[in-house]
Amino acid sequence: MKKTILITGASTGIGKLTALHFAKQGWNVAATMRTLDKGVELAQVPNIKLFRLDVLDEASIQAAISGAVSAFGGIDVLHNNAGYGLVGAFEAMSPLQIKQQFDTNVFGVMNVTRALLPHFRGRKSGVIITSSSMGGLVTFPLWSVYHASKWAIEGFMESLHYELRQFNIRVKNIEPGSIRTEFENAIEFVSSPVYDAYALTVYENMLASYRSAPSAEIVANAVWRAANDGSSRLRYVVGAQARVIILLKRLLPDSLFFGIARRAVENGSHPQK
Ligand SMILES: NC(=O)c1ccc[n+]([C@@H]2O[C@H](COP(=O)([O-])OP(=O)(O)OC[C@H]3O[C@@H](n4cnc5c(N)ncnc54)[C@H](OP(=O)(O)O)[C@@H]3O)[C@@H](O)[C@H]2O)c1
Repeated sequence: MKKTILITGASTGIGKLTALHFAKQGWNVAATMRTLDKGVELAQVPNIKLFRLDVLDEASIQAAISGAVSAFGGIDVLHNNAGYGLVGAFEAMSPLQIKQQFDTNVFGVMNVTRALLPHFRGRKSGVIITSSSMGGLVTFPLWSVYHASKWAIEGFMESLHYELRQFNIRVKNIEPGSIRTEFENAIEFVSSPVYDAYALTVYENMLASYRSAPSAEIVANAVWRAANDGSSRLRYVVGAQARVIILLKRLLPDSLFFGIARRAVENGSHPQK
């Protein structure tokens, strides 16, 4: 019998390529997104069905899950993927901007996961895969709140896996480095006169790393592995950049690692505007 994956944030980037990858391998795909108009290409693929789902809207989550279960007979894998980056000096961020970052990247993931758990428990089977980030394991300047949201996901999912093991529900986090998607365009950059001389230089250096970044296909492959390898492995680091950086973080004392991170992103001078 065909298996089914439900993906959040499938309108673009990692979610969209993961939907296409699983469909190509013969899976049913519930490709969920906030705006169905963005799913025109996916809607052409026979075993992909679109469902409207905003991770902040409980009713839309329940409706999408019920719709996918009726359409496909059940859900085998959840891919929590929706997310975006809030970037800038922490002091300049409003409480609302910080709350919105956590709402989407943390509480959104919790909302969808909690809504699917009764289904997975009932079947005594399920895999919960989350697009976390290399940024859930290491940090860089200006991304403090984004990092906090992804570190929250890491702690949440790591703890959750213990209680779900008895129901044969496995938990997996995907940890990509920079990946070329719409992510860069969706970044909410918070400018501040006090920090901008520093912040714009760092920000531009970080954006430059997206230009040479790999495509989301490598992340889709990792999600595929996580869904199908039958293991209880928790973390899947994706891409050479993430592998090197996470290894350095593990091996080096903090002071050395922080020095390398600073040199990588603080060099260069942005014309002060
Ligand atoms: N690209 C990278 O370098 C990178 C690296 C590590 C981790 N990640 C993580 O990978 C995930 C996917 O990012 P991406 O690179 O594919 O970026 P993307 O192309 O910008 O895709 C983000 C997706 O999240 C959706 N989304 C945002 N808020 C939502 C909400 N409230 N409800 C439902 N969907 C929502 C967006 O929908 P709309 O089209 O409606 O805006 C879009 O489909 C994110 O969690 C990100 O943190 C990305």
